[in-house]
Amino acid sequence: MDPNKRPDDMVRITTPELAQAFIDEQVEAVRAQVGDGKVLLALSGGVDSSVVAALLIKAIGRQLVCVHVNHGLMRKGESEQVIDVFQNQMDANLVYVDAVDRFLDLLAGVVEPETKRHIIGEEFIKVFAEEAAKLEGIRFLGQGTIYPDILESEAGVKAHHNVGGLPEDLDFELVEPVKLLFKDEVRVVGKQLGLPDGMVYRQPFPGPGLGVRCLGAITRDRLEALREADAIVREEIDAAGLSIWQYFAIVPDVRATGVRDGVRAFEWPAIIRCVNTVDAMTAEVPELDWALLKKITARILDEVPGICRVCYDLSPKPIGTIEWE
Ligand code: XMP
Repeated sequence: MDPNKRPDDMVRITTPELAQAFIDEQVEAVRAQVGDGKVLLALSGGVDSSVVAALLIKAIGRQLVCVHVNHGLMRKGESEQVIDVFQNQMDANLVYVDAVDRFLDLLAGVVEPETKRHIIGEEFIKVFAEEAAKLEGIRFLGQGTIYPDILESEAGVKAHHNVGGLPEDLDFELVEPVKLLFKDEVRVVGKQLGLPDGMVYRQPFPGPGLGVRCLGAITRDRLEALREADAIVREEIDAAGLSIWQYFAIVPDVRATGVRDGVRAFEWPAIIRCVNTVDAMTAEVPELDWALLKKITARILDEVPGICRVCYDLSPKPIGTIEWE
């Protein structure tokens, strides 16, 4: 039987009971696979890696070593949540790597989006490999591979994003407990494992993070303004109880004139981006309530230093992609 093929008779995990049965089965399977060995896991705080971490903690406790790399491009509060949930609440063996300066120094002056992506991806692997080299006796690598990753890599749509890119000399055996699950099933399992809703129902977030939303050459002050504006957009849309597929802020590298306290200001605009989509190939812009847009605008202008204008992006995909870079 092909271990990468979902059995035709596998029931879709839609209830806590089905999730619990899956968890019990995988806990046994992981214990059988790794014995008293150690497993290393890159924990970004995304849904898939978080669910795998929680599952592996349940199976093997502190034999799991999680590495969380803060590349400085996380959203507001994200690294803190990873530490709070996994280190404080779940007693995980967590290595937190503050690589903020490393990434931001490398990205200084880099304007081209694809170059930024490349730098962020390469550096991430480098940091992770360095951390792995510091740890002794680790034979296994945990990964948040899910079934669409397998299907898409088989179809040649994209390189298997989880396996691709790790240095060859990291000779690990993979532990991929959710590789036959679809995203909705991973969320049900995560909820059953006790992860907070904010983690389980997190909207998609690009690997390069805020790096591709702080347009052009990233500067620390503009990145900070973006992080704050983005937090306000997310907070207000969450508070309004809307279910929108992706909603975030962008801060471009241009300035506009404003007036603040009677004095001329020359500051950045923040752009609000909201999209609904099924597969991210096409996307529609939801009609946000005017009062909500005004509230978000007022808060950003009032609370975020460096921002003097707020715009709403009305472009569907195509022609506009979801991200600006
Ligand atoms: P676009 O901008 O191409 O985005 O319409 C489609 C979906 O993909 C996400 N996205 C990325 N995800 N690395 C990722 O992991 C990336 O470099 C990247 N670029 C775009 C985007 O957020 C949207 O969900």
